[in-house]
Amino acid sequence: MNNTTPVPPLRAGPCAIVIFGASGDLTKRKLLPSLYNLAAIGMLPEDFSIIGVARRELSHEEFRAQMTGAIGEFGTQKIDPQLREQFEKRMYYCQGSFDDPRTYRRLKELLDLSEKEHGTGGNALFYLSVQPTYFGEIPSRLKAQGLVEESKGRWRRVIIEKPFGHDLESARQVNLAISAALAESQIFRIDHYLGKETAQNILIFRMGNGMFEPIWNRRYIDHVQITVAESIGVEGRGAFYETAGAFRDVMQNHMFMLLALVAMEPPNSFSGEAVRNEKVKLLEAMRLLSPEAVARDTVRGQYGPGQVDGKAVAGYRQEVNVNPNSTVETFAAMKLWVDNWRWAGVPFYLRSGKRLPRRSTEIVVRFKNAPLDIFGENESDPVGPNRLIFHIQPEEGISFQVRAKIPGPTIRTRGVKMDFDYCQFGDVAPTTGYEKLLYDCMVGDSTLFHRTDMVEAAWKVAQPIIDGWAAHPPVDFPNYAPGEWGPPAAQVLISRDEHTWWVEPKTHL
Ligand code: BG6
Repeated sequence: MNNTTPVPPLRAGPCAIVIFGASGDLTKRKLLPSLYNLAAIGMLPEDFSIIGVARRELSHEEFRAQMTGAIGEFGTQKIDPQLREQFEKRMYYCQGSFDDPRTYRRLKELLDLSEKEHGTGGNALFYLSVQPTYFGEIPSRLKAQGLVEESKGRWRRVIIEKPFGHDLESARQVNLAISAALAESQIFRIDHYLGKETAQNILIFRMGNGMFEPIWNRRYIDHVQITVAESIGVEGRGAFYETAGAFRDVMQNHMFMLLALVAMEPPNSFSGEAVRNEKVKLLEAMRLLSPEAVARDTVRGQYGPGQVDGKAVAGYRQEVNVNPNSTVETFAAMKLWVDNWRWAGVPFYLRSGKRLPRRSTEIVVRFKNAPLDIFGENESDPVGPNRLIFHIQPEEGISFQVRAKIPGPTIRTRGVKMDFDYCQFGDVAPTTGYEKLLYDCMVGDSTLFHRTDMVEAAWKVAQPIIDGWAAHPPVDFPNYAPGEWGPPAAQVLISRDEHTWWVEPKTHL
């Protein structure tokens, strides 16, 4: 392939970036490093300012020192002293609690100052890295202070992070609260999975290459598997995880959106609204499982204590801030359906969990077998049928598995892989995954963000599963050990259909 580096898009226009929850981990690990990375590749506006808002007492200087430290520690671009100085000069700290009107008055003063000193043009991006209980309150207080008013060509946008509700009803309440203060065009619900390179590549791959559309349907595709596996446990987030579990934390949002990218119809254009319209249609076509289907086609698991790399690790119930009798699932697997003409009869198998054997996010599109297997008897390495695999992380790339002849005088076949790896693009610095999303918000491109109707459509699919599980609490937890691929029932779920979960071999085929 051609080793050309992609042409960077245009620099975003002037704006102030306001981070609520600026003393949190996300700001340090992801947001500031991403903003710095954007600046290093010439995509952050030249006229910008960064205002951190949090309860903790800090001076501007202390905030600056903490943030530049974080950029050094977590940034993936080389630190340029001049650029770092630019950052330092343009950072401010606004101390206060999120429910105190004085905080917003101070913020207004800092925004006015940014406009005067740094030419931010009256544009502002508010990033809410806060507890969901503030999703309604912060926009409404911003509104009361006139801070989200868009006039005289200036824009005001708000990014919020999941969870967007806890079930369908609470998601509706959250949406109502946010939309009381903001127009839909101002709300950017972020899903960091959609910022990952290979996730973005799914549509490009499917729809930018004419050869896939004719076979991208029930006639040629046998089934689809989506796996989001993590080897880590809950990592000190027990209190949060107790309110979520694997299904709400990862599956109902990140994985449903990956499914939508794989299965949606081609939009009329690549505009935000056209793409999101098709995603909603797809989510609306997902089957709502009956109570019997929930019992049969979904699996829950929870890790017990065990060993990882020879070291003892706690079970979920022994983690900090976790109920010792918790019935929260750390693993979920299920078979879902998309009831439309393209996908009728094609199962979508999803699984996700913590403390699994390795970190790996993959989408496997398994094609149907050739109509007649005339080489079957000579198959020396029965890798089976064609698979197209989107490797989302940690490797980023796409591979296609085909059957080929083993060199030699006899006819023997085996599976081989055609590989596209992101490294082939040459010297592209790794990203945190947030750069693209922050940039898109600054330029007003909502394609990768969730719209109100998408959030509700995804919860509609989730609700019967949540209800079915609530009606039948698990009785066998913990039911898998760290380092296993979930409980045995997850294997049974897929082997009943004579399939197996695809696990990427460690070496090439
Ligand atoms: C988050 C979940 O949304 O995604 C975490 O809350 C999970 O529990 C994380 O660990 C996984 O993200 P990534 O990018 O590391 O796969």
